[in-house]
Amino acid sequence: MNPEEYVNQLFVQEDDVLAKVRHTIVERGMPAIFVPPEIGHFLGMLVTMSRSRDVLEIGALGGYSGIWLARALPSDGHLTSLELNPDYATLAHDHLTQAGLGDKVHYEVGPAVESLNRLQSQGKTFDFFFIDADKENYPAYLDYAVSLARRGAIIVADNALFHGRVLDPNHDSADARALREFNQQFATHSRLTSTLLTIGDGLAVAVVNS
Ligand SMILES: C[S@@+](CC[C@H](N)C(=O)[O-])C[C@H]1O[C@@H](n2cnc3c(N)ncnc32)[C@H](O)[C@@H]1O
Repeated sequence: MNPEEYVNQLFVQEDDVLAKVRHTIVERGMPAIFVPPEIGHFLGMLVTMSRSRDVLEIGALGGYSGIWLARALPSDGHLTSLELNPDYATLAHDHLTQAGLGDKVHYEVGPAVESLNRLQSQGKTFDFFFIDADKENYPAYLDYAVSLARRGAIIVADNALFHGRVLDPNHDSADARALREFNQQFATHSRLTSTLLTIGDGLAVAVVNS
């Protein structure tokens, strides 16, 4: 057993509901690109520790991370989840409903930049952001998150190491360039105190200062 396996078997309990969601996503031939259970567990902890009430998720897939996030919300808490694919959003909503969380979530379907623009024009603000969608738009998602953030809000982004490609100067895809730009902004933004945890595929975590 390696140290990661030791920690995960001791600290991370994935129940049958979550395990079934992962299996259904795979069974349906959807990409198996949900967060690993240890990241889901940590996301829930961050929502609880920050006493977040309004959470915004960018990238729902089949609702796996959404269940971890919504379970950690207080009784009056709400998850807004942005998803491009309407079939994925429907499945995610079914999964959150099966988990007893259907009334805590709503999905905004379409390109996330358009949804974020709409939320901004509606004057919406959030306590917690989880960015986990198309990589090219990560820099734009960060700008929106900072502008929609309440004071003390938390911003988390998955895949910040992009399987090591952000470190590899020979890797010059648009996605790798966007993630390098995102990490640079995340590290140096005047309104953020931030770090990048080397767990999973790299989890960027920041608090938004006033
Ligand atoms: C990595 S998956 C999300 C996984 C999910 N957070 C989880 O851990 O269970 C990325 C999702 O982002 C969605 N997506 C991709 N491009 C998008 C866009 N421009 N706007 C909104 N969603 C997008 C994909 O359809 C996919 O469902």
